[in-house]
Amino acid sequence: MNLKGKSFLTLLDYSKEEIEYLLNLSSRLKTMKRQGKPHRYLEGKNVVLLFQKDSTRTRCAFESGANDLGMGVTYLGPSGSQMGKKESVKDTARVLGRMYEGIQFRGYKHSDVEALAEHSGVPVWNGLTDLYHPTQVLADFLTVQEELGKLQGVKFAYVGDARNNMGNSLMVGSAKLGLHFTAVAPKDVWPDEALVEKCMKLAEASGGSITLTEDKWGGTREADVVYTDVWVSMGEPEDVWRSRIAALNDYQVDEALMKNAGDQAIFMHCLPAFHGIDTEIGAQIAETFKNEYPRVQNGEMEVTDAVIESPQSKVFEEAENRMHTIKAVMLATMSDDYEIQ
Ligand code: CP
Ligand code: NVA
Repeated sequence: MNLKGKSFLTLLDYSKEEIEYLLNLSSRLKTMKRQGKPHRYLEGKNVVLLFQKDSTRTRCAFESGANDLGMGVTYLGPSGSQMGKKESVKDTARVLGRMYEGIQFRGYKHSDVEALAEHSGVPVWNGLTDLYHPTQVLADFLTVQEELGKLQGVKFAYVGDARNNMGNSLMVGSAKLGLHFTAVAPKDVWPDEALVEKCMKLAEASGGSITLTEDKWGGTREADVVYTDVWVSMGEPEDVWRSRIAALNDYQVDEALMKNAGDQAIFMHCLPAFHGIDTEIGAQIAETFKNEYPRVQNGEMEVTDAVIESPQSKVFEEAENRMHTIKAVMLATMSDDYEIQ
């Protein structure tokens, strides 16, 4: 398998075998990290991390991962570069491609990450756009594999905003790797029809399936994985909160929904998650909507605190796996010269 020079923009660009290769590489890098074995395969190289939106996990996974691989890292935050304001994405790509061997981009328009990949001449990694969040899916699938021992045939229920970057990317990943993906959501937030059709075709080939349903009990029954994400994503206007809570509050992942799935089910969330009033936004939403929508009165939105804190929850294993999987993506796309025992 040689992925050197290939960008990582969406899992649609990767075959089943390539994704499995990256998961396997992640797992081996994780073992090396756990055993304290150095893996500075990319010594002397440099990467730049461009962020138009904030991040904890993605930034830290890229930074610590690049450091472990022996590389230098530059972080450019939402207000830290000329890009977009005084300089086009195309010009930025051509400048950064002359100084760095790899570029991470997190932002709004998916066309921006595509432009960086087209014009920089180096591998570009999508650290989240409005459309896709593919590095998160690698971490999620590594976690599923570790917890359940397989991916093929896993019953994966995605509950909530099914047309955001996570809903889209998990559906694509499931279609590629043969999982049975069910989007459990009101019709208003079902994923784009053309993408659903594409994924259904891919699922036919992989032995998986794609189902969309509004029925939260039927859609989560006997699921192996119950997954949710925030109801309002980064970059969406504040005034969508009201209609989104109205649409999704009945789809909150609570203990009753986990019980409906069964004891075998694990709970997953890409994080950050709203499950209490100990965040600014959590407290503010609870205060504004507590009378109209009692479910959110304690700052619990897409998931309750009891579910996040339950033994079924694997959210922190998942977060750790961001680093191991992102490391694998950087290594495989920047080099074809590494030997891992
Ligand atoms: N899951 C995820 O991408 O988290 P950050 O926004 O903290 O990077
Ligand atoms: N859908 C979320 C994912 C965060 C990791 C967002 O875009 O804000």
